[in-house]
Amino acid sequence: MDKIVSLAKRRGFIFPGSEIYGGLANSWDYGPLGVEIKNSIKKSWWERFVHRRSDMVGIDAALIMNPKVWEKSGHLANFSDPLLECNKCHSRFRADEIAHDPVKQGDRICPSCKVGKLGDPRKFNLMFKTFIGPAEEATNIAYFRPETAQAMFVDFKNVLDTSRKRLPFGIAQIGKAFRNEITPGNFIFRTREFEQMEIEYFIRPENWEKEFEYWLNEMHGWMKEVGIDMSKVHDHDIAKDELAHYSKRTVDIEFDYPFGTKELYGLAYRTDFDLKNHFPDKPPYKDPETNEEFYPHVIEPSLGVDRTLLAVLLSAYSEEGDRVVLKLAPRLAPYKAAVFPLLANKPELVSLARKVYEGLLGKLMVAWDDRGNIGKRYYAQDEIGTPYCITVDFDSLEKGDVTVRDRDTAKQERIPIQDLQNFILDKIYKS
Ligand code: GAP
Repeated sequence: MDKIVSLAKRRGFIFPGSEIYGGLANSWDYGPLGVEIKNSIKKSWWERFVHRRSDMVGIDAALIMNPKVWEKSGHLANFSDPLLECNKCHSRFRADEIAHDPVKQGDRICPSCKVGKLGDPRKFNLMFKTFIGPAEEATNIAYFRPETAQAMFVDFKNVLDTSRKRLPFGIAQIGKAFRNEITPGNFIFRTREFEQMEIEYFIRPENWEKEFEYWLNEMHGWMKEVGIDMSKVHDHDIAKDELAHYSKRTVDIEFDYPFGTKELYGLAYRTDFDLKNHFPDKPPYKDPETNEEFYPHVIEPSLGVDRTLLAVLLSAYSEEGDRVVLKLAPRLAPYKAAVFPLLANKPELVSLARKVYEGLLGKLMVAWDDRGNIGKRYYAQDEIGTPYCITVDFDSLEKGDVTVRDRDTAKQERIPIQDLQNFILDKIYKS
């Protein structure tokens, strides 16, 4: 984990937030390479689950919604974690973390100061509060959304009326969510501000088990697509007494992080809980053939963008001798290719290499490097996961071709300059 955190900082994937002011606990900023990989994750997800399907539409809703949303959804009353506090150092712990450790559970000695005792669990609401307008009064209280999901329920009728979808169909959204977490930490694993990619898939109730299995399978397909190491992935059926207030069945898809096996994604059967709460007077759905009015049920695949990125980095990181290679799925790599002149002090090589570089710029994310020797440049690109390195050498001047080196095999082949763009795009997007 330390290696990933230091690589992320050193190469511009992820920096500590507000660092020059001493940081802000557990806030992180995505740097030039981090934003590329994060955007690629979101784009791949949107393409797979929205663009390539006729039964899915997307929305992009407001972050701050009417507080009634959170009253009706049950979040104001129920969205809390049990918290244990030390009577000496006042460190706070999530009860589930202590509960899974029999020693800590037994003696209740504070794991932080090792002197104080942990008090009884008390509920801590995770909603992030703010005020709308200048007056900080109770009537102006509002909340940043703790999940993107609710907007898909609140906008259900508007989406239905405008998109004319029929069951089964889904609404997808990608966006930020905020939770006043008790114990954020483990880099970008648990933060107070994070991003989700969520689908609310509306179905007839009798189909829920079939749809649940289908979506579990889809989530596995997605993880394979983005290169998550499937040998580290486990499906964990949540026990009935631990289910969230809205769920009849939840499977946590867990990942073996270096700090333990913990949740990566969640898949929940939310029944008609949300639509019933938001549309209490009349079902918002009418079957166009039978005219039957009813509340659709919901299967919810819920994915964290930041946890995806963490699992992707952990899966891709490898060391080969003293060489670090980030074996990212090529479509997620921040740079798809890098262009080098073989020798930086030969103007004719630099000039042709610049032409090759500029020809690719705008078609795909491409890096330029003319520092150090060629070996060092390969190492530097391997470390950030660039799948292809293109070198312009003396033969290129005569033959109009270049050497393309593959990150994973280190094999090199000669490709005509005019075919370069298609060659790389084919390799990246057709593989
Ligand atoms: N709408 C359902 C829902 O929000 P959740 O299990 O609380 O369910 C879904 O959250 C996903 O969001 C998680 O599986 C995880 O990927 C991500 N997530 C949740 N809390 C997070 C946090 N504090 N920091 C980073 N990601 C988080």
